[in-house]
Amino acid sequence: MHPRLASGQRHAYPPTMTIQPSDSILIVDFGSQVTQLIARRVREAGVYSEIAPFSHAAAAFQRMQPKGIILSGGPASVLDEDGPRIPQEILDSGLPIMAICYGQQALMHQTGGEVLRGDSGEFGRAFIEISDRCALFDGLWATGETHQVWMSHGDKVTALAPGFRVVASSPGAPFAVVANDEKRIYAMQFHPEVVHTPDGGKLYKNFVRHVCGLAGDWTMAEFRKTKIEEIRKQVGKGRVICGLSGGVDSAVAAVLIHEAIGEQLTCVFVDHGLMRLGEADQVVSLFRGHYNIPLVHKDVSALFLNGLAGVTDPEAKRKFIGKTFIDVFEEEARQIGGADFLAQGTLYPDVIESVSFTGGPSVTIKSHHNVGGLPERMNMQLVEPLRELFKDEVRELGRELGLPDIFVGRHPFPGPGLAIRIPGEVTRERCDVLRKADAVYLEEIRNAGLYDAIWQAFAVLLPVKTVGVMGDGRTYDNVCALRAVTSTDGMTADIYPFDAAFLSRVATRIINEVKGINRVVYDYTSKPPGTIEWE
Ligand code: XMP
Repeated sequence: MHPRLASGQRHAYPPTMTIQPSDSILIVDFGSQVTQLIARRVREAGVYSEIAPFSHAAAAFQRMQPKGIILSGGPASVLDEDGPRIPQEILDSGLPIMAICYGQQALMHQTGGEVLRGDSGEFGRAFIEISDRCALFDGLWATGETHQVWMSHGDKVTALAPGFRVVASSPGAPFAVVANDEKRIYAMQFHPEVVHTPDGGKLYKNFVRHVCGLAGDWTMAEFRKTKIEEIRKQVGKGRVICGLSGGVDSAVAAVLIHEAIGEQLTCVFVDHGLMRLGEADQVVSLFRGHYNIPLVHKDVSALFLNGLAGVTDPEAKRKFIGKTFIDVFEEEARQIGGADFLAQGTLYPDVIESVSFTGGPSVTIKSHHNVGGLPERMNMQLVEPLRELFKDEVRELGRELGLPDIFVGRHPFPGPGLAIRIPGEVTRERCDVLRKADAVYLEEIRNAGLYDAIWQAFAVLLPVKTVGVMGDGRTYDNVCALRAVTSTDGMTADIYPFDAAFLSRVATRIINEVKGINRVVYDYTSKPPGTIEWE
């Protein structure tokens, strides 16, 4: 599966990263599906890292002045003439290098080793035996031990470049890990970034801390301080406007910016009437009450719901909501006298453009909406203080800024709101029915202590009526589907395996308490092939 299938608009590379920690690691992306996981592992070790596609790696290298390099895996073959290459200045830099899978093959191919096409490849769990010590294994893997790793490769290294020796191998992978201690280069055939390599995180930690000698002091407190300075520098005396969606990202961005520039920030909450139960009040009281941040609360539910009347096509719903949102936002911005900057809660996964070997844009599965398009229309610059962070890091920053846990830990919620959880026509009545069912479901999930174990859980109101019997009477009402998934980034997802007693309790409560629903079903579809939302 292409990792970007589910994404909407993506920013083009190179992103203008503004944060510039003195200790950083550059990850050169050769198009692996799991390159983002490498960045996470490095950050978990307390070191700032950035991903650059191989084609932009030389520029990123110049800009970042990193203290170490990681070469990712990828789907190409180094034996192809146009197979991606490691920029020469990286090879000549003398910096420590950790090379994964394709990275290992490219490294060997470019420095005097040999790579051949594998006939069959090797995919999945494998066990390697440690045959010698090296700095990467210090305090972790000892000679003679066997460890589980995750392989996924076709080609393989058949002769080592000068200066390398084997430190771990398996029957299928004689060069499972090779080392050049003098040059501090470590290359492996398996993927340490995936969970199926249980010690993988520790290998990355050893690389960045022990081999590269970095302190591991990349913390959210540090990030907050640096960002506040940067925001002040970028904005100067200008005015910033920030659209709040009720989600974590825009809220964290707003609170951080407010801490930096105070009254120069105005937040606008466009309440489209498609929020979860009580959500709009929660956002307003958090911002006005708790933080004393100027907030324009615009209740435009009538505008949205009238416009959605008769619209049943999912893309038409998304397009209408996206466009109307921008219109309302623009009008509000004008009313408060305009702004020089637009603040957005853009995250790192939205910024990095993965390497495409097929060329051309990826397929649009859904049009995700944000306020894209506004900056050009209104001649505003963007302030995106979270663009270096992953979702879980944004949550950590939110806690660092004192946002209540109930807010920070909240499941993601899509911009088009409940409209995409009501297949068919969206009406105020149907929204109200869905809101109640959703609230019951989430309350039961919280009561069972499962909320944080689930990436996202919600109810969907189907445009299907079924016959039931309640008391002595016949009912003819709607079906409600329950969805709950686990995921790390929303790109792929597994269903959450509730036990039958839990589901039956929720179904009973919804049918008893929510007028308009007489049947509840559980959605058992993973992503892919399904998407998380129903539309
Ligand atoms: P799908 O349904 O594409 O969703 O599997 C993946 C994740 O993205 C969220 N989502 C959106 N978020 N605007 C957003 O801000 C949108 O238009 C949108 N559509 C889907 C979805 O809730 C899930 O977390």
